[in-house]
Amino acid sequence: MEVSPYHLEQHKKLVSFAKDNNIVKGRYWTEASKTFDVELNKDGYLNKGSRNYLPEILKKEDSTVINEDLVHLKSLLSDSILDSLEKVNVEKNFFEINGRRFLYTKTFLHQLYYFLKIRSEVESFSPDTILEIGGGSGLMAAILKSELGSKIFIVDLPEMFTSSYAFLAYVFPDSKILLSQEIADSSNFDDFDFIFLTPDQVNLIKDESINFSLNVASFQEMDFSEVQKYFGFINRCLSKKGYFFCANRINKETRFSKYPWDSLVGFSNIFLEKGSLRSVFQPDDSFFERLVCKSEDRTMYLDKIKNDMSYLSKKERQYWLLKDLGLLRLKELLLVLVSKLK
Ligand SMILES: C[S@@+](CC[C@H](N)C(=O)[O-])C[C@H]1O[C@@H](n2cnc3c(N)ncnc32)[C@H](O)[C@@H]1O
Repeated sequence: MEVSPYHLEQHKKLVSFAKDNNIVKGRYWTEASKTFDVELNKDGYLNKGSRNYLPEILKKEDSTVINEDLVHLKSLLSDSILDSLEKVNVEKNFFEINGRRFLYTKTFLHQLYYFLKIRSEVESFSPDTILEIGGGSGLMAAILKSELGSKIFIVDLPEMFTSSYAFLAYVFPDSKILLSQEIADSSNFDDFDFIFLTPDQVNLIKDESINFSLNVASFQEMDFSEVQKYFGFINRCLSKKGYFFCANRINKETRFSKYPWDSLVGFSNIFLEKGSLRSVFQPDDSFFERLVCKSEDRTMYLDKIKNDMSYLSKKERQYWLLKDLGLLRLKELLLVLVSKLK
């Protein structure tokens, strides 16, 4: 099935909106947002930027070979769990969502793992409304939409919407996607499957109207003030018995343990752990994964994370200690020097 002419037209509008927007971004994304550029045509999307989060569309099945890292990551997801998926197919050399086939990426396997983990922890996980902050390619939104059928809000930068719109329009050719620049108020949110909001539009979301909110690999790249704003938003918009999932690197722009966890009033902890999937290959990818739930009891609160290093392996601790002290670069230079002197 071809991408619909309506979606093609909307994507063009989005691209020109993304080029002209003056939305305030954090330090990291002021530069990073310039590196994405995606074209959409009736047969699919095409990356033209220097960075790309989108999985490659599978053209010829028999020509694909997945690399060792991906085979290893995939092997960490057990077959019986994968068999429980309804609309996402995990095949030998490709994955399929809603009948569309793609080559494997680490991001896809990470997102799928997160979805399966949350679903295994929460009894009858079936949120009607989901809000993802910093959705990137839209892969997680596509997994959630196809498996759960929920209405999905995505809060992201317009530059990134050019990727996620292209991906979602390709995977769901019949879907209704509301663009951020078409939104004046919340009156027509019910009519859409996906609603794209820019960071300055989160005030349009009604109090306690979101059943599940998530943030993967993006608070880490935001300034603390942005993370703080989103915690306030989650506190306000999550419904009672709603869940918030957060998976981010121990540190990048803002440290996981410094997020304002104690500002989430009435929340209880479901799990907080060092992610098992990310730092398999490099210690600099040490991730924390936390699932919390908003309870009826307003006197509950989340503890601050006191010693984040205690969650890490010895190798990771050594790495992060040097990095935190700003000595990693020095160590690398010394190693080069020593190798030249030999
Ligand atoms: C590294 S990507 C992660 C994407 C995706 N969650 C994943 O795991 O692949 C970071 C995301 O955060 C988004 N982002 C950056 N600043 C943001 C902000 N202030 N509000 C919302 N999203 C933001 C970026 O546009 C991008 O989609």
